[in-house]
Amino acid sequence: MIEVRNLTKRYGLTVAVNNVSFDAKAGEVLGFLGPNGAGKTTTMRILTCYLSADEGTVKVDGYDVFEESIEVRKRIGYLPESAPLYTDMGVIDYLKFIAQVRDIPKSQRSRRLKDVIDICGLEKMIQKDVGELSKGYRQRLGLAQSLIHDPPILILDEPTAGLDPSQIIEIRNLIKDIGKEKTIIFSTHILSEVSATCSRILIINDGEIVANGAPDELAGRAKGEEVIHVGIRGPREEIEAKLEALSLVSDFKRVKSDDDICGYQIVSQKGKNAAEELFHFVVQNHWSLTELRQEAISLEDVFLKLTGSESST
Ligand SMILES: Nc1ncnc2c1ncn2[C@@H]1O[C@H](COP(=O)(O)OP(=O)(O)OP(=O)(O)O)[C@@H](O)[C@H]1O
Ligand SMILES: [Mg+2]
Repeated sequence: MIEVRNLTKRYGLTVAVNNVSFDAKAGEVLGFLGPNGAGKTTTMRILTCYLSADEGTVKVDGYDVFEESIEVRKRIGYLPESAPLYTDMGVIDYLKFIAQVRDIPKSQRSRRLKDVIDICGLEKMIQKDVGELSKGYRQRLGLAQSLIHDPPILILDEPTAGLDPSQIIEIRNLIKDIGKEKTIIFSTHILSEVSATCSRILIINDGEIVANGAPDELAGRAKGEEVIHVGIRGPREEIEAKLEALSLVSDFKRVKSDDDICGYQIVSQKGKNAAEELFHFVVQNHWSLTELRQEAISLEDVFLKLTGSESST
């Protein structure tokens, strides 16, 4: 659906986007994650024909962004970083105006208006002026304008920026819903947002893509090891001596010990099926297992590692 190849954009000496390539397939919700100044907005502006590039190609549904921009624009809905809403216009007039700009045939306009108002939950606001809307509703209106021509692709630049937590959840759910039918690329700094909403994540840093994969996949790539919590009922000294000798355990620390139950955090080498082996280890020694769980490695670890920020705890 979207094919980006070796895209480079420079502003003077600043390389905002540096040889970036990626694909977005039909029906994917792609999270574009990166710190401030990473190049997210620049990439999105190129994808939506608002900015030229220095090198590389971008194809949307087979159409070249630089050569066939009219065709590309028809297929894309775009919510810019700061939505250019006209504050003194009525909400409904604004949407009518966008429908007109988007060249939606007159006979279909009221139907489309009703649809986007429904989808974005704007019914209560249609009597108001754009300037009277709260930030969350402005964002919904921005989303409505991006959807009005029913494009198969949506590009949303930080759709949840500046919203309160409940509005964030609402917009996120909206994106998830819309994503069932459309290809979406949205940018954010918020990690929990991508893991909650996206089927795939691109992490961009200093204009370069540093990771590309499903949320779980990326989390798994963070470390070459697994962390397992295990609770064992048995004699402490013996357990620890035997854990020490166990080859799959590269490190362990006692995190709990009450009465005759000891809790351990065990770091094992990856790909060793550690949980299963630990289960057999406990059983073979005739102790009993009170807990066995694998600790999820957070996306935050991946992000900090890949974007070169200070390491997490
Ligand atoms: N119009 C411009 N002129 C000069 N430099 C620019 C311009 N727009 C962006 N840049 C530079 O390009 C780089 C990427 O900026 P961009 O806005 O794409 O980042 P971003 O990932 O969207 O960041 P943010 O999370 O802060 O929105 C930055 O170094 C920025 O300073
Ligand atoms: Mg930006």
